Amino acid sequence: MAEPEPIVLQGRTLPLEGRHVVLGVTGSIAAYKAADLASKLRQAGAELEVVMTPAATRFVTPLTFQSLSARPVVIDMFSAAEAEAHVEVARRADALVIAPATADCIAHLASGATPNMVTLTALATTAPVLIAPAMDNQMWEHPATRANVEILRARGVAIVGPASGRLASGRTGPGRLSEPVEIVGALRALLGATSGDFAGRHVVVSAGGTREAIDPVRYVGNHSTGMMGFAIAEAARDRGARVTLVTAPVALDTPVGVERVDVTSAEQMLAALAAATTESDAIIMSAAPADFRPAAAATQKIKKTDDRVDMTVEMVKNPDIIATLAGGGVRVGFAAETENLADFARAKLTAKRLDLIVANDVTAAGSGFGTETNEVVIFHASGESEALPLMSKLAVGHAILDRVAKLLRA
Ligand code: PMT
Repeated sequence: MAEPEPIVLQGRTLPLEGRHVVLGVTGSIAAYKAADLASKLRQAGAELEVVMTPAATRFVTPLTFQSLSARPVVIDMFSAAEAEAHVEVARRADALVIAPATADCIAHLASGATPNMVTLTALATTAPVLIAPAMDNQMWEHPATRANVEILRARGVAIVGPASGRLASGRTGPGRLSEPVEIVGALRALLGATSGDFAGRHVVVSAGGTREAIDPVRYVGNHSTGMMGFAIAEAARDRGARVTLVTAPVALDTPVGVERVDVTSAEQMLAALAAATTESDAIIMSAAPADFRPAAAATQKIKKTDDRVDMTVEMVKNPDIIATLAGGGVRVGFAAETENLADFARAKLTAKRLDLIVANDVTAAGSGFGTETNEVVIFHASGESEALPLMSKLAVGHAILDRVAKLLRA
């Protein structure tokens, strides 16, 4: 049997591609988690440079970060390795992330003191700064730390965490370093808010397959996992949009910075989207709402009896959500097809009064339900159509947003 063709991904697959991220590591037991963060930043496409305080090197060796970033780690402000190294690192940065940020580091950041390479980089950079505090709960709750954090917030420094839980001291409370995935999400949101083309815009996205109850234990559903909608929400968040994600039940984590509204049925999804789209700039309808629902859900579990060999469930039509919604800004629908993709998609574009419809053949390899990738054709109300190659769902999200941005400008 012939080997399947390898999948070639195109488009913007890596969210931090082309971004020079400086990671500042300070002296906390949580510094070990910064190694995982460094790895995740690289996996997200960032060019990574690490600066450490001398105290941080007592917890994790610079060699760890040198290996993860593929660059020398800067610890000494007076290092001879690069002329003016103490400010050049700050100039190169598209963003500075300090994780973990100790109470001592936060105090120095608030006062503008620069006893080490991390605080010096923070003072010398004009790039956005994100800090992820980690310390004992009593230090976090101390009025001095509270005041320092407020000073930093007022200065525009973004703060992620700390999380609550078990601390190194054995106590429980706020002070744990946020998980690396949360920190990467917060960085993506910060970069979007400071330089994204959707900053100031509100984008509403729907995701997942609705569940229509038959009785308290059974439902009619479909294969949508929500991956397409969540990827669009992440892409919009990365470009600076305020994002409302209305989702049917799915097993996915909420992207950092995205407002999530959980619904179950198509009727609930309609109500949530009607509320979310009153002042939105765009609605992107990637959910798979059920077209029909049981006419009446039984209030008790329907029992199997020995004399019963079949069962009929009477179904009634659900509202067509996107067709029912009056506006919402730029209106984007999806068409999930198994045949006649172009004809069916064009018919839906007109019937649902859409600006764009994104058609996918849900039977094609790598496309449709539960895949990391999708291959779509975008049909425009103006009549043109564009067939895009197979790409990650995040890249599909960006491709849709590129076209939405153009329509918003027009
Ligand atoms: O979630 P994943 O596993 O990642 O899968 C992604 C996906 C295949 C679900 C997604 O790419 C997709 O195709 N979504 C649209 C699914 C769908 O319902 O297609 P449709 O052709 O039946 O509907 C056309 C449009 O009308 C869609 O925008 C749909 O959201 C909308 N609709 C449908 C029914 C309904 N009652 N109200 C609606 O608004």
